[in-house]
Amino acid sequence: MSTYDNVILEIAGDVATATLNRPEKKNCMSPALHAEMCEVLAEVEAARVKVMVLTGAGNAFCGGMDLEKCFFDNWDDPEKFEEGVGYSFVWMKHLKNFPAVTIAKVNGWCFGGGMEVVGLCDIAIVAEESTWGLSEVNFGIFPGGGTTWTVANNMPSRKQALYYSLTADTFNGIEAVKLGWASKSVPLAELDAHTQKVVDGLVRKGRIVLQKTKQVYERIFDMDFAEAIDYEIAKLFELSRLTDDDWIRTALKSFKQREYKPGLQDYKLTRDV
Ligand code: ACO
Repeated sequence: MSTYDNVILEIAGDVATATLNRPEKKNCMSPALHAEMCEVLAEVEAARVKVMVLTGAGNAFCGGMDLEKCFFDNWDDPEKFEEGVGYSFVWMKHLKNFPAVTIAKVNGWCFGGGMEVVGLCDIAIVAEESTWGLSEVNFGIFPGGGTTWTVANNMPSRKQALYYSLTADTFNGIEAVKLGWASKSVPLAELDAHTQKVVDGLVRKGRIVLQKTKQVYERIFDMDFAEAIDYEIAKLFELSRLTDDDWIRTALKSFKQREYKPGLQDYKLTRDV
């Protein structure tokens, strides 16, 4: 496993944890951190884990883009500016299409680009006490670089999306769930344990079934119902082939023998599929 200056990467079995590690700067994302995240995601993908948890060191998840190192310091050097910001687009696009399940564990401050990171993850488990905000208008721009896309694709209500984009009002982790940014909120003291419980449940499932579940969900929005049926049945056969029909040969065989209740339990994977 590689070591990085701005990110702590741990890979153990089926789970990777990447911790943004600039706590003295609220884990805001500098060009160096963005460049490292490009490498981190490549390394995690190569490890073929089932789950990747993203979190932050100290009392912040992520203070957004490093307003000095990404923007202010490089403005007069357009190529340097473009390069620094450009790394962020590379890893955010990779995050959006990541094969493993991605979980944002939001432990504290979460602003602007930090919200974009959460918005691109599949699941977000967040501290009730965390503070969130689309602060861009507070320094004279709109949420850019993909952040407005995540606003539009996570927040269920136009009125709420525009309210928070236009006012930059902050909100907490409990409200983040209601506003579509988070899957669950728990007290900060329970955040690690609760996240671990979710991770443990996910790793009991097959890697391919997790991957295909994500892929199918992401693709169906552009389809009408009949197309979605065709696509979903084709992907089911693909999944079946890739897993050597494990769902029939192992899971449903076990159900036929009344060994477990699929509504309440996982089947026992016979091999890592
Ligand atoms: N860019 C650059 N430096 C930052 C950032 C950032 N996004 N966020 C925090 N820091 C720095 C602070 O300037 C400070 O540096 P210093 O020690 O050299 O003075 C250090 O991190 C610690 O932050 P404090 O402000 O001292 O911490 P505090 O707990 O008082 O406040 C808060 C935390 C509210 C997060 C505050 O730091 C803040 O407003 N940060 C900016 C948040 C933001 O608007 N981010 C941009 C989002 S928009 C986008 O991503 C494009």
